[in-house]
Amino acid sequence: MDGKDFISRMGALLSLLGGALFTAFLLGAVTLYFYSFPGQLSQVDHGNTPSEGTTASTKENVEVAQIEGGIHQPTGFIVDQGYKVVIANCTGCHSSQLVIQNRASREGWKNMITWMQATQNLWDLGDQEEQILNYLAKHYAPVDQGRRKPLANIEWYELK
Ligand code: HEC
Repeated sequence: MDGKDFISRMGALLSLLGGALFTAFLLGAVTLYFYSFPGQLSQVDHGNTPSEGTTASTKENVEVAQIEGGIHQPTGFIVDQGYKVVIANCTGCHSSQLVIQNRASREGWKNMITWMQATQNLWDLGDQEEQILNYLAKHYAPVDQGRRKPLANIEWYELK
């Protein structure tokens, strides 16, 4: 194999590699697109307005435009069932960040709400409290909740 031959072979190899990289990138982009988009679409369905067909209101369009990667950009809340109720009730007195940076079990969240009601004039949340607690306990649960339980019932054996 002489020099030129080698160079043209390397050239072919490189363009092959380039093609492969480009394909991988495209696949990744498409996957990402479809990964993030259904969240936005299903978000529209969570609304209390029937959103079938082309009757989506301007308000809904604005709301969808504010969502990126499953996060409601103006507040930082994770978009899921109940997040609108949380925004409506929990961002009037303090920033959403105060809520988001906290982690608690359902009981812990319930306690915080009770504390705010007792000392900070938080209103009675009525039957929305259930939705709020479901949402907070699901998305802002204690970080180490996923730790495994301590080992139990181990059959120890003697080292010989
Ligand atoms: C009527 C006003 C008001 C509303 C509405 C309100 N809060 Fe608060 N909340 C407060 C005040 C005041 C504090 C104390 C702020 C501070 O310490 O700077 C607070 C503190 C907090 C804290 C921090 C508690 C801590 O231990 O540091 C969390 C978390 C919180 N609120 C969550 C919520 C959630 C969730 C909702 C919706 C259910 C909500 N808040 C609605 C007034 C309110």
